[in-house]
Amino acid sequence: MIMRKHTIRRATALAAFALLAACQQQTETVKPVAQVTLQDAMNHIIDPEADVIWHATGTIATKEGVIENYPRTEKDWEAQRRAALRLLEASNMLLIADRRVTDKPFESAGPGVYSSAEVQRQIDTNRSAFNALALNLRDASQQLLKASDKRDVESLMKLGDGLDHACEACHKTFWYPAEKFPRLPAIPPSP
Ligand code: HEC
Repeated sequence: MIMRKHTIRRATALAAFALLAACQQQTETVKPVAQVTLQDAMNHIIDPEADVIWHATGTIATKEGVIENYPRTEKDWEAQRRAALRLLEASNMLLIADRRVTDKPFESAGPGVYSSAEVQRQIDTNRSAFNALALNLRDASQQLLKASDKRDVESLMKLGDGLDHACEACHKTFWYPAEKFPRLPAIPPSP
């Protein structure tokens, strides 16, 4: 049978409509799913961006003397802004439930430090505390974003410390709650 032009057009329109409806149904029910392990998120998403922030300010000792380090050019500030944006969105990632800690299970690194299985168990049983600590990171990132938009060096320095605290607060709860540092000898042994 030869389809007439308008029949074909109608059939195409109907097919397109059906496809659109199917897509809409899917996007309405879609839920974010954790694709990346917590360990990969830490090492490859969060840590590199935090380093951009931390390396941007501070003092460096050189042969010529101590140099104050801070963002100077537009490019420097754009790098700060980009890092703050990425940390901000990464903090949302941490809120997605059911993220596996790792696909390479690890043992405890010493007394008071959890193995990956223990980290997983802690997160699974204290999800609301974990989420609250992820929100700390979100706050810290939001403030960093504001400071970089205002090109505010002083705030950027202070907020770098705040960022560090946001990381540590979670690590001390979910990774090394009672880490014991070996006591250093009072007098260094002679060579
Ligand atoms: C809401 C909790 C949370 C926050 C916030 C958080 N982390 Fe983590 N991080 C963890 C947990 C739990 C582990 C231990 C499990 C693991 O190694 O992935 C970890 C591990 C790490 C590791 C080691 C990964 C490895 O090789 O095992 C690095 C590096 C790291 N975090 C960096 C950071 C930095 C930098 C920040 C802040 C900018 C941060 N984290 C903020 C929960 C958090």
